[in-house]
Amino acid sequence: MILLSEVSKTVVDGRRKISILKDITLSVQSGEFLAIVGPSGSGKSTLMNLLGLLDKPTAGQYQFDGQPVSSLPAGKLATFRNRHIGFVFQSFMLMPRMSVLRNVELPLLYQPMRGKERKRLACEALEQVGMIEKIKQKAIHLSGGERQRVAIARALVNNPRLILADEPTGNLDEELKGEILSIFLALKQQGRTIVMVTHDREAASIADRYLTIRHGELVEETPLTRAHLTPQKAEVVYPSI
Ligand SMILES: Nc1ncnc2c1ncn2[C@@H]1O[C@H](COP(=O)(O)OP(=O)(O)OP(=O)(O)O)[C@@H](O)[C@H]1O
Ligand SMILES: [Mg+2]
Repeated sequence: MILLSEVSKTVVDGRRKISILKDITLSVQSGEFLAIVGPSGSGKSTLMNLLGLLDKPTAGQYQFDGQPVSSLPAGKLATFRNRHIGFVFQSFMLMPRMSVLRNVELPLLYQPMRGKERKRLACEALEQVGMIEKIKQKAIHLSGGERQRVAIARALVNNPRLILADEPTGNLDEELKGEILSIFLALKQQGRTIVMVTHDREAASIADRYLTIRHGELVEETPLTRAHLTPQKAEVVYPSI
């Protein structure tokens, strides 16, 4: 479904050229759950932004279902992204003053649809993450785990082909992390295609396959087994929202 061929990302900082991603070749099959792990600053979010068509590579090709998407004009790119890709960010990115329902309806506002249908789809997505009881609550009044569940519902509402999650458990404690990972497992069982970036090897262990990224380069590794996991104390950090 996804094919990146020798994709690189270089940025110019003053007179210096910084190479963030180097010759990344990566394919993701439809229905596959891929995790990408790597240290801070290794290029994980940059890679996700490229996969999510939020940014363009400086070299290489990106094909989505055989279609070269990196060369699409900006308007078409936005439509393509909205239709096919759902995002879950580490910092949730919800609208704090809007209700849970409204937040999940947001991606549907870009397509012609009756209000009733929009609400039905948003409720369906909220049902999947166990947040249907809280549709009227403002996002600002939710706990960290609830915010992340709403963010996942928002990523699902368009029924996207691809779900991209950048550190979806990064700001959650151990128990909430387990809840969010079980939602991702359920999505995997539905046959969704998922790419998840994580610092956390335990989170990566629920994926079909994982790749390590170091200094902007991908290294393929063997699947994780539980024996390799080192228990890590989760840092509990709740961002403002
Ligand atoms: N526009 C930019 N200009 C200059 N440097 C950048 C730019 N974007 C990213 N970088 C640098 O590229 C490197 C990779 O950044 P990226 O955000 O992809 O890392 P990451 O693996 O997601 O890290 P983390 O785990 O901390 O989120 C970092 O050193 C970052 O400072
Ligand atoms: Mg990052």
